[in-house]
Amino acid sequence: MKARNYNNYKGKNNVLFVKNVIKNFVAFFLLLFSSLSAHSQDVDISKGKSLFNANCAACHKLNKNLIGPALAGVSEKYEREWLYTWIKNSSAMIKSGDERAVAIWEEWNKAAMNAFPQLSNEDIDNILAYTDYVPEPVAVVASTAAPQATGTNSSFSQDIVLVVLVIVLVVLIVMLFLVNKTLRAIAANNGIHVEKRETKIFSEPVWKLFLKNQFLVFSSVVFLLLSSAYFAYGWLMQIGVDQGYMPVQPIHYSHKIHSGANEIDCQYCHSSARVSKHSGIPSLNVCMNCHENIAEYNGDEDLEKGYTKEFYTNEIKKLYKAVGWDEEARQYTGETEPVKWVRIHNLPDHVYFNHSQHVNVAGIECQTCHGPVEEMEIAYQHSSLTMGWCINCHRESEVKVKDNDYYTKIHEELSKKYGVEKLTIAQMGGLECGKCHY
Ligand code: HEC
Ligand code: HEC
Ligand code: HEC
Ligand code: HEC
Ligand code: HEC
Ligand code: HEC
Repeated sequence: MKARNYNNYKGKNNVLFVKNVIKNFVAFFLLLFSSLSAHSQDVDISKGKSLFNANCAACHKLNKNLIGPALAGVSEKYEREWLYTWIKNSSAMIKSGDERAVAIWEEWNKAAMNAFPQLSNEDIDNILAYTDYVPEPVAVVASTAAPQATGTNSSFSQDIVLVVLVIVLVVLIVMLFLVNKTLRAIAANNGIHVEKRETKIFSEPVWKLFLKNQFLVFSSVVFLLLSSAYFAYGWLMQIGVDQGYMPVQPIHYSHKIHSGANEIDCQYCHSSARVSKHSGIPSLNVCMNCHENIAEYNGDEDLEKGYTKEFYTNEIKKLYKAVGWDEEARQYTGETEPVKWVRIHNLPDHVYFNHSQHVNVAGIECQTCHGPVEEMEIAYQHSSLTMGWCINCHRESEVKVKDNDYYTKIHEELSKKYGVEKLTIAQMGGLECGKCHY
C-alpha cells in the first residue's frame, strides 16, 4: 500500500493548487484595488469641466489664449494655495502687491478677471483637474459617465465598494487557508507527505484543476453573483437621482435675498407654475423690472463665504452685461448675451408632471416639493423626484374637492365605490401608470 502514485492523488494536487490560487487571488485583488483607488481620487474632472464651462470659459480656453491666458497645465505654474487665492479674488491679490499676480496682470494689459468667492477649494481642485486633463480615450468614458452628478455620492459609493471588496478578500483568504489546512490534515492522516517545494507545480492546465475543485468554483460563482448584483443595484438606484444637485449658475442669483430677505413671491418670477405644465425660469426682462433701478447691492453680507457687497454688485453687473443695459446712459445697447441657467430639476422624458395641477388644482405649496427655497443662497434639488416619492404623496394626500366643480361628480361616484368620505389621489387613479408615463 505504500507505493501510492502521489501524482494522481487528488489531495496533494489540491493543496498545491489551492496555494497557487491564493497567490493569484491576492494578486488579482491587489490589481483591482489599485485600479479602483486610482478612480476614487477626490477630484471629479467632469464636474470640473462643467464648472469651467460655467465660470471660466467666457475668458479662458484650454490651449488658446482668449481674454485671459490658456489654462492647460496651469496648476504646474503656481502652487495650489496661490491658485485658490487668485481664482477666488485675483484683484485683491494684485492690490496686495503679490509679485506674480501683478506680473501676469500687467502682461495681460491689466485686464480684470472676475472674482469667484463662491467656488470652494474643492471646486477649484476639480477645475484644475480638468485644465490638467489630457484625454485618454479609455479613461474618459469612466470618469464622465455621470456628468452632472454632485460628485459626493460617487466617491462615497466607491469607498463602500472598496470596503466590501476588502472584506470579501479577507473572507476568501481565510476560507482558502482553512481549506488548505484541512486538505493537509487529510493528506497527513492518509500517511502522505506533502513536500514543501516542487519544481513542476501543475500536472494539468490551471482551468482544468480549477473546474475540478468544486469549492473554488462554487465560491467564485457566489462571489461573482454577489458583486455583480451589488454593482447593478448601485447603478440602478443612483441613475437619475440628483437629490441635492447644486450647480454653479452663470449669475449668482440668490433666492435667499430675493424671496427671503425681500419677500418676492415665487410666482412673480415663476408665473407659469399656476397655469401650465412648466414653472419655467423668468426671462431677464423680468429681472430688469427691478434692476433698472437696483444697480448696487446694499443688503446683508456673508464675509466668511466671501459674499461681500462688491461680490453681489458684480453679479448685478453680469445681469446688465447679459441684457445689454448701459447704466450711464440708462438705455439698452442691443448687445445681449443669453444667460444659460443650468437646469436643476429634470424628470426623465417618459414622465409627465404638471405644475398647474399640483400648484393650482391641488393647492400644494412650492416648498412641499422644493424645500425651503427662500433660504437657499444657491438653489438645489431638495426632493429625490423618484417614482416612489410621487407615489407616496399620492397615497397619502386627499383630493381637494372643496370648491372644485370638476371633481364633485367623480368624487361622489368614487367615494360610493370605495365607501369612504374622503378620497386619496391613489383612489382617484393617481397610481395608474398611464397618468404619469407617456
Ligand atoms: C472676465 C474674464 C475672466 C474670467 C471669467 C476668468 N478669468 Fe482667469 N484670467 C483672466 C485674465 C484677463 C487673466 C490674466 C491676468 C489678469 O489680467 O488679471 C486671467 C488669469 C488667470 C490665471 C493665471 C494664468 C497664468 O497663466 O498665469 C488663472 C489660473 C485663471 N485666470 C483661472 C481662472 C479660472 C479657474 C476661472 C474660472 C473659475 C477664470 N480664470 C475666469 C480673465 C478671466
Ligand atoms: C426674482 C425672481 C425669482 C423669484 C422671486 C423666485 N425665483 Fe426661483 N429661480 C429664479 C431663477 C433666475 C432661477 C434659475 C437660477 C437658479 O437656479 O438659481 C430659479 C430657479 C428655481 C428653481 C430651480 C429650477 C431648476 O432649474 O430646476 C426652483 C425649484 C425655484 N426657483 C423655486 C422657487 C420658489 C419656490 C420660489 C419662492 C420661494 C422662487 N423660486 C422665487 C428666479 C426667481
Ligand atoms: C421684484 C424685484 C426684483 C426682481 C424681479 C429681481 N430682483 Fe434681483 N434684487 C432685488 C433686490 C431688492 C435685491 C437686493 C438689493 C439690496 O439688498 O441692496 C436684488 C439683488 C440681486 C442680486 C445681488 C444678490 C444676489 O442675489 O446675488 C443679483 C445678482 C440679482 N438681484 C439678480 C437678479 C436676477 C438675475 C433677476 C431675474 C431672474 C432678478 N434679480 C430679479 C430685486 C429684484
Ligand atoms: C408636487 C410637487 C411640486 C410642487 C408643489 C412644485 N413643484 Fe416645481 N417641480 C416639481 C418637479 C417634479 C419638477 C421637475 C419637472 C420636470 O423635470 O419636468 C419641478 C420643476 C420646477 C422648476 C424647473 C423648471 C420646470 O418647470 O421644469 C421650477 C422653476 C419650479 N419647479 C418651480 C416651482 C414653483 C415656483 C412652485 C410653486 C409655485 C413649484 N415649483 C411647485 C415638483 C413640484
Ligand atoms: C406633495 C404631494 C405630491 C407629490 C410629491 C406629487 N404629487 Fe402628483 N398629485 C398630488 C395631488 C394632491 C394631486 C391631485 C390633484 C387634483 O386634485 O387633481 C396630484 C395629481 C397628479 C396627477 C393627476 C392624477 C389624476 O388622477 O388625474 C398626475 C399625473 C401627477 N399628480 C403626477 C405626479 C408626478 C409625476 C409626481 C412626481 C414627479 C407627483 N405627481 C408628485 C400630489 C403630489
Ligand atoms: C405618480 C406618478 C407615477 C406613477 C403613477 C407611475 N410612475 Fe413610474 N415613474 C415615475 C417617475 C417620476 C419616474 C422617474 C424616476 C427617476 O427618474 O428616478 C418613474 C420611472 C419609472 C420607470 C423607470 C425606472 C426608473 O426608476 O427610472 C419605470 C420602468 C416605471 N416608472 C414604471 C411604472 C409602472 C409600471 C407604473 C404603473 C404601475 C408606474 N411607473 C406608475 C412616476 C410614476
